[in-house]
Amino acid sequence: MKKVSVIGAGNVGATAVYHIARLNLAEVVVVDVVEGLPQAKAMDFAHTAPGRGFGVSVKGTNDYADIEASDVVVMTAGIARKPGMDRMDLLKTNVNIAKSAAQAIAKYAPDSIVIAVTNPLDVIAMVMLRETKFPWQRVVGMAGVLDSTRFRYFIAEQLDVWPGDVEAMVLGGHGDSMVPLTSFASVGGFPIQELMDAETIERLVERTRKGGGEIVNYLKSGSAYYAPGASAARMVEAVLRGESALIPASAHLDGQYGYKNIFLGVPVRLGSGGIEEVLDLELSSEEKAALDKSAAAVEEGVKTLESIYTPG
Ligand code: APR
Repeated sequence: MKKVSVIGAGNVGATAVYHIARLNLAEVVVVDVVEGLPQAKAMDFAHTAPGRGFGVSVKGTNDYADIEASDVVVMTAGIARKPGMDRMDLLKTNVNIAKSAAQAIAKYAPDSIVIAVTNPLDVIAMVMLRETKFPWQRVVGMAGVLDSTRFRYFIAEQLDVWPGDVEAMVLGGHGDSMVPLTSFASVGGFPIQELMDAETIERLVERTRKGGGEIVNYLKSGSAYYAPGASAARMVEAVLRGESALIPASAHLDGQYGYKNIFLGVPVRLGSGGIEEVLDLELSSEEKAALDKSAAAVEEGVKTLESIYTPG
């Protein structure tokens, strides 16, 4: 039986745990610093097993040693911005949490594949890569699956079609400058350009870019978690089933698309070894310009990281 550990038993972590267990993908361990929280959620989930038809064990713990020999580790631990806290404070705190989690992963689960979810995603993924010292193929960020699933949903809603029939990819950094690829979006094989006018497509692209923010505005405190948790679980599934799934994910680039030394959302093949390949798509000049802009925003984030980060 495979083993998956989820760091952080908050909203996103707990949702990921539920999907992983429900799919019978692996035994699951969920770690959190808050005493009792991961234990309570694990127990509560386990009680749904008879009704939902899963048999894998779900264990909650405050001890990182329990992630020992995990095949996949999903990193969702972090704090959300609180009143009076600026972005820099948030970044510093989450970088330190990522650092300690990555060191524990390197110690207890040295052969695992790490899926980073904590924000700011492309920066946290960088910290996880540096601190685990894993090969780049084994540290991947979850953003593109989520942003794409939102884009796909908005297209389906607009056309009143089955969401599963919509295919689309969103590349770039996980922020306002993300790049929904309209030229590759389709419904049942038909390009969306055949089904919608340009104005409608642009509106859906904008809504995708602001999809996370729309939810934050409703929630007031806290951010989205059902789709982020399900998207992380989707990536765990692709790894554990050895799918070589063609999905967008944040990968550490070494020259692909012309970028070096940053994590950026690109199309990858995700399978049992982690990222098996970064696919070099031929982008339109408009899309490439948008990706350049998005990469520049991530580079800014990395610069900020360098100013506060001392490797462990
Ligand atoms: N080790 C383990 N868990 C930790 C640590 C740590 N060092 N520090 C904090 N945590 C836990 C918190 O106790 C909390 O339970 O991380 C959890 C975070 O959960 P939430 O506050 O509910 O946040 P959530 O909505 O799950 O988002 C988590 O995912 O999508 C991103 O932007 C989001 O960065 C955020 C992350």
